[in-house]
Amino acid sequence: MERLIRPARNILGSLRLPGDKSISHRYAMLGAFADGVSRFTNFSTGADCASTLACMQALGAKVNRLGADSVEIAGVTGRVGPAGQLHDRTRNWTLDCGNSGSTMRMIAGLLAPQQGRFTLIGDASLSRRPMERIRKPLEAMGAHLTLNEGHAPLTIDGAPLKAIDYTTPVPSAQVKSCILLAGLQTAGTTTVREAVRTRDHSELALRAFGATVTRTANSVSIGGPQSLHAIEAAVPGDLSSAAFFLCAATLFPGSSLVIDALGLNPTRAALLDVLTALGAHIAVLNLEEKHAELVGTVQISAPAEGLRSTEIGGALAAQLIDELPVLAAIAPYTSGGIRVRGARELRVKESDRIALVARNLRAMGAEVAEFEDGLDVPGGQELHGATIDSGGDHRIAMAFSVAALRAEGETLIQNAESADISFPEFFDLLDRIAER
Ligand code: S3P
Repeated sequence: MERLIRPARNILGSLRLPGDKSISHRYAMLGAFADGVSRFTNFSTGADCASTLACMQALGAKVNRLGADSVEIAGVTGRVGPAGQLHDRTRNWTLDCGNSGSTMRMIAGLLAPQQGRFTLIGDASLSRRPMERIRKPLEAMGAHLTLNEGHAPLTIDGAPLKAIDYTTPVPSAQVKSCILLAGLQTAGTTTVREAVRTRDHSELALRAFGATVTRTANSVSIGGPQSLHAIEAAVPGDLSSAAFFLCAATLFPGSSLVIDALGLNPTRAALLDVLTALGAHIAVLNLEEKHAELVGTVQISAPAEGLRSTEIGGALAAQLIDELPVLAAIAPYTSGGIRVRGARELRVKESDRIALVARNLRAMGAEVAEFEDGLDVPGGQELHGATIDSGGDHRIAMAFSVAALRAEGETLIQNAESADISFPEFFDLLDRIAER
């Protein structure tokens, strides 16, 4: 599907967004393994979280959709599969993770200590993404994993594991979560150490479901085995989805956008600091905690004098990894440009996001320099409408829809349906807040 984006004159409005993708994945997985029936409202409407729910259902959890964004999950209390098949080691469970790296990497940790053989498959994009990063720690715990030259399909021959103390070589919340989920079911204390504190939704969710998790500045430990109990929760709005609209609002002096019930977990909220550094006016109101996740209202307006410039590198690049495509896409409209380094991980996301951002910025007439681990996008540039190759990557499709709002002429986004992976409501909501 192609989508035509016309330039906008302003961004105005007030929104509430569907639930955070990262939190929804974790609630679905923990709910499936918990004792009792969990209920989630404002659950992510994206296809990625639907992949996780389908995998949990295939494993024997009862998943009941109560509406588009509300779901009930009856857990299987630490076991998997329908009765009678639990210990059938001849059965090969095939679980389709779709486009979702979070699903594949986290489920691998959930299943490695379980009885059975599990094969995790994904679409073409997921089948190109690196999976060695979970094989190493899981094998150190004694798990048996087979990969196809470092990629999915990934086969796990489940077995009881041993606890480890592991330092992640690349900052990754997915890898950390994979190890913690295996550690939850493993005797002894499993510790994960990381150089950059990655998003901590797993730690907070595990506690919400009743597990004990201990933390220091750079490490997380979990003792096992522990059981989980069901919870009821409203998932906070997705800040990485909000990023597209927040960035759009920074482009139009006179804009005013309010997003409420938004997840503001500090390990996710670096975008607000970067937009403030660029000159945006941001207020955070009504802060509250829900199952230890911070939730609040964000008000944003653009600076009358236009956006300034900024540099993003090191720990900040890791914490902003999902927001970098949209920041790079609006960088030409800043006065001094945006320089990104230390973001090599962008090359192994749903697409090579460094290459696709550079190619699509050039298609819109921008000058941009591409580096192995980042981009230099000079400021003060005018863009023109173009045909955008989203590469089937949801964040590229949405990032360039935002860049298109300030371009001269219309922009055609190819494979625009890829937005459904995380944010099916994106284009409708964009139309609602974009004044034309
Ligand atoms: C996620 C972690 C990040 C992020 C992804 C979701 C998560 O990936 O890019 O969209 O939910 O844990 P890495 O942990 O691999 O960096």
